[in-house]
Amino acid sequence: MKKILIAHDGSKPSYKAVKKAFEIAGKFGSSLTVISVIPELYLTELMDIDRARILETLSAETSRAMEKITASAKGLRPIKTMIRQGNPASEILSAAKKIKADLIVTGSHGRHGAGKFLLGSVSSKIVDHATCSVLVVK
Ligand SMILES: Nc1ncnc2c1ncn2[C@@H]1O[C@H](COP(=O)(O)OP(=O)(O)OP(=O)(O)O)[C@@H](O)[C@H]1O
Ligand SMILES: [Mg+2]
Repeated sequence: MKKILIAHDGSKPSYKAVKKAFEIAGKFGSSLTVISVIPELYLTELMDIDRARILETLSAETSRAMEKITASAKGLRPIKTMIRQGNPASEILSAAKKIKADLIVTGSHGRHGAGKFLLGSVSSKIVDHATCSVLVVK
């Protein structure tokens, strides 16, 4: 359990994932990377000026959330953060490969979590396609 990648979308379940990953990292001395992906979904079909403004707002919001997470990780090894744009599952999976993560930690649901029973589409794609272990936190 050397390298853990946490997928964070600002939702309550993803904060639970952070908490669980911190517990594991504390026990195993793992290094932690938190990734947050700004979905393209928000950014298509908009005029460039609106797109730029929305992207700026989302990036600032995401950076603030990442800073809070980093600050809350007292006593753990320094945390790396990654902010990407695009398809969340693909970006998370390619980041996991890139950093050679041996565990990806996600929440069971995210910001759109209407379905109480089925896994969210991002976490379920990660479970299906990851080449390392995945912990889905409930
Ligand atoms: N944009 C994202 N960036 C980083 N991690 C994400 C992102 N979206 C989802 N995740 C991760 O996946 C987990 C599950 O979220 P997911 O998006 O699959 O569910 P949902 O929002 O409830 O449903 P859906 O998006 O399928 O409508 C989140 O708790 C988080 O760990
Ligand atoms: Mg979602």
